[in-house]
Amino acid sequence: MTSPHAPELREKIKLETPHRRLLYLVVFLLWLSGLLWLVVRGFSDAPVESARCEQWSPVLMEIHGGLGFIFLWFLGSLWVHMRRGLLLQRNRVSGLSMLSVTLFLVFTGWGLYYFGDENLRKLTSLAHWIVGLALPLLLTLHILLGRKIPRWKAFR
Ligand code: HEM
Ligand code: HEM
Repeated sequence: MTSPHAPELREKIKLETPHRRLLYLVVFLLWLSGLLWLVVRGFSDAPVESARCEQWSPVLMEIHGGLGFIFLWFLGSLWVHMRRGLLLQRNRVSGLSMLSVTLFLVFTGWGLYYFGDENLRKLTSLAHWIVGLALPLLLTLHILLGRKIPRWKAFR
């Protein structure tokens, strides 16, 4: 049986509260695990010999890599959000920028697993974490710009 609210829900670009909160949590933990990895390694790609680094950097990357998969699931869950935003022409520039940035992180994250060439890996790592560190800022901007849209236009 279809819910009487189904057509109304389909109208929404705005995410439901639990969905939005879980997305924020995943983005935050992904960002934090990347940042902590950089901190324990002193923001350097030189091999570090400290015991703290040896102990924590693999654990942090296991957590980060795992969260990356969860993030991909969330990206898929935003399909309707993105589709409606694009069709209704709401927040398109910042939305498409968000999509490009997240796809860039996914692609460079994949590259970090598979690129064999050392120089290419170094470059990929640098690009991945510089863009990654800026992700919460870009997401905040996207949300603020989205919220500036008059209510009736965003179907809130
Ligand atoms: C084509 C791409 C996209 C478009 C057109 C788009 C459009 C929008 C619009 C119009 C809003 C304001 C909704 C409102 O407050 O009523 C919004 C908010 C938001 N967007 Fe996007 N977006 C896109 C991609 C993304 C991506 C890739 C992410 C996350 C990685 C994202 C995460 C969010 C979040 C968390 C909000 C706040 C939602 C809320 O307050 O419930 N968006 N977006
Ligand atoms: C939220 C912002 C992010 C930050 C600050 C960040 C930061 C980092 C850092 C510092 C590394 C280690 C780089 C290296 O090994 O040289 C890394 C690796 C990685 N990241 Fe991210 N990242 C972010 C988002 C993402 C996203 C969205 C994905 C995928 C969906 C992702 C997937 C990966 C993967 C697969 C690795 C390699 C893991 C490994 O070597 O075991 N990251 N990230």
